[in-house]
Amino acid sequence: MGTISSGNNVRHYQFVTHRHPGFWDNPDIFDPERFSTERSTGRHSYAYFPFGGGRRQCIGKNLALMEIHLSLAMLLQRFHFDLQPGWHVKMDPELSLRLKDGLWMYLKSV
Ligand code: HEM
Repeated sequence: MGTISSGNNVRHYQFVTHRHPGFWDNPDIFDPERFSTERSTGRHSYAYFPFGGGRRQCIGKNLALMEIHLSLAMLLQRFHFDLQPGWHVKMDPELSLRLKDGLWMYLKSV
């Protein structure tokens, strides 16, 4: 265990922590059930912090979570999404995780 001197800055990377095998089983696999109550029990509360944490946090967190749920529910009722063949998804981990060059998809009415 190292020592952090007074006045030093500590940067806590979401990208690394959100994929850390010490917190997550198969961290690179899409597995939304990993957030179920049963499977989250005992996990460190800062293993997942997409909106920051502690005294500095995203003030739009609740709005963002509500918008995401509503948008996804409405879109998935109406469309089927397919990634454009050959499209390579490029991640752009900044303050929050983004995609470089977007996500090119075909939408079909359900
Ligand atoms: C999925 C969507 C979003 C994510 C992942 C996200 C994530 C973040 C993160 C990581 C921070 C930095 C916290 C820190 O300083 O450590 C932040 C700050 C902030 N976010 Fe968000 N955010 C999202 C949506 C929104 C929305 C919808 C709004 C406004 C309607 C918003 C407004 C802000 C503001 C104003 C700050 C600066 C707060 C401060 O510096 O005190 N965000 N956000």
